[in-house]
Amino acid sequence: MPQIEIDVNGAHHSVPVEPRLLLVHLLRDKLELTGTHVGCDTSSCGACTVLLNGESVKSCTMFAVQADGSAVITIEGIGASDALHPMQEAFWKMHGLQCGYCTPGMIVSAVDLLRRNPDPSDDEIRAGIEGNLCRCTGYENIIRAVRSAAAALRNDESRHSVAELLPVGGSN
Ligand code: FES
Ligand code: FES
Repeated sequence: MPQIEIDVNGAHHSVPVEPRLLLVHLLRDKLELTGTHVGCDTSSCGACTVLLNGESVKSCTMFAVQADGSAVITIEGIGASDALHPMQEAFWKMHGLQCGYCTPGMIVSAVDLLRRNPDPSDDEIRAGIEGNLCRCTGYENIIRAVRSAAAALRNDESRHSVAELLPVGGSN
């Protein structure tokens, strides 16, 4: 069985994996990071979104072996319950979630969007999260949340670079 080397939320793992194991199942089943969800079997819902080397990917669309040598950040690495990332705080304050199933992937995609575009228009926010489906909210509060997080991050002088949009423990 191939052995892969992977950094997840800043921690290094050396893990044997079946060649056909999907990255999402490595994260959930072997590393017990169950904040990354599986919402479909068609690569369309985005619930499984993580950051791979700083860019959002749907972790159900790639094999774990393809992430060999990579740095992954999951929702657990974005923030913690006692130290929410500004994006998590904005989703909470602006009611950007209901059942919460889509929320980890939605937040990861939104963090990636602001990394690339710190001041997105509403249309750019819609485009940035178009790969993430939400069955509950109607998206409007999610857009408000992303807009609010973007403003908070732009005003936060302690975060001087886009890299600092990335989370605690993030290595990229
Ligand atoms: S579980 Fe990956 S896109 Fe739906
Ligand atoms: S909050 Fe339920 S699917 Fe988005």
